[in-house]
Amino acid sequence: SPKQVAPLITFVLGGPGSGKGTQCAKIVETFGFKHLSAGDLLRREMISDSEYGSSILNTISEGKIVPSEVTVKLILREMEASDNQKFLIDGFPRSEENRAAFEQIVGAEPRFVLFFDCPEEEMVKRVLSRNEGRIDDNIDTMRNRLKVFEALNLPVIDYYSKKGKLYRINAVGTVDEIFEQVRPVFEACEQEAK
Ligand code: AP5
Repeated sequence: SPKQVAPLITFVLGGPGSGKGTQCAKIVETFGFKHLSAGDLLRREMISDSEYGSSILNTISEGKIVPSEVTVKLILREMEASDNQKFLIDGFPRSEENRAAFEQIVGAEPRFVLFFDCPEEEMVKRVLSRNEGRIDDNIDTMRNRLKVFEALNLPVIDYYSKKGKLYRINAVGTVDEIFEQVRPVFEACEQEAK
């Protein structure tokens, strides 16, 4: 009978506008991962008629964080529905509470964690010049997103750094230059799997 394979989970962290989504698209194209963006899942749920929809809308438009249980359940639902066992989980965990909820509800840990390290003024510039018009891409909400990032996300980054699982990427430069730092991390992971 076929051996059960444990899913390969990687978390992708970085401040708002650090380029997580952009780099994830390249990782998917090159290494065949399934991309799960916590923000996209929440935005999709928000416009659906679900029980969570309107509370997610209020939370996101203030730049705050949605309850962990909601986010983790949305991620788990996507993981269970996928036949790909390589997951790139983008914009998650956003807090220590998120991290603990994932470990508890999904019962798994990431193989490694990427952190896109980007100066604040660069993140602000990118987000405010983005032309897709997200409800949270205005200067007031952006200030709050940065505050939330520093207060809640930096401790998670620190946690994975201490565990030796963190790869810090310099997120300033062209998209291709940044991907050249990302590529070897995934190549090493593929080598390991052979
Ligand atoms: P989320 O959707 O995760 O957004 P974010 O983390 O704020 O990040 P962005 O999507 O804005 O940016 P990105 O880093 O992906 O950069 P991108 O590639 O788009 O979260 C949104 C909200 O959802 C949160 O505030 C929260 O309310 C909620 N939420 C999410 N996760 C949650 C969780 N776990 N729990 C609870 N709530 C949660 O790039 C940005 C721009 O820069 C683009 O225009 C791009 O073209 C450009 N760009 C990219 N790379 C470069 C480059 N190298 N040089 C110049 N420009 C570049």
